Amino acid sequence: MKKQAWLLGSLFTVALLAGCDLSGKNSSEFRPVEMTPKLEAARNKALALCSGCHGPEGIGTADFNPNLACQKKVYMVKQLNDYRNGLRGNHIPMVNIAKMLTEEEVDSISEWYSLQRCPISTL
Ligand code: HEC
Repeated sequence: MKKQAWLLGSLFTVALLAGCDLSGKNSSEFRPVEMTPKLEAARNKALALCSGCHGPEGIGTADFNPNLACQKKVYMVKQLNDYRNGLRGNHIPMVNIAKMLTEEEVDSISEWYSLQRCPISTL
């Protein structure tokens, strides 16, 4: 009996160490813990404007589309503002899309992406 409990405990630890999700939810159901109306609106905007290239949860849909999931919010805000004001003008679609956002959306969409689960290496 004691041995079985020890074995179960070990299996649980191994599963945790392996990064297994023991909650029974699969990763596509992952959502930021506290969804506020602001984040909900940001998610809807991102789904409409960004997900075609950056994926519904911030994983780029092609090799040349960067992941945004779990990106640092401050970094993202800076990049979007750089696209908007011409400091980062190398990618015309991104420049145009960034110009479609309000200042509040730049902030809230960056926050929403920053809260998405970090990509897991498939190597
Ligand atoms: C048409 C495809 C497309 C759409 C739609 C799109 N992006 Fe991008 N995005 C890209 C590509 C490609 C890059 C890399 C461009 C570059 O080299 O500057 C990029 C870069 C970025 C970066 C900089 C990433 C980094 O690591 O520096 C941010 C932030 C970003 N996009 C946010 C957004 C947001 C927010 C939206 C929606 C409002 C959006 N993108 C919509 C294709 C897209």
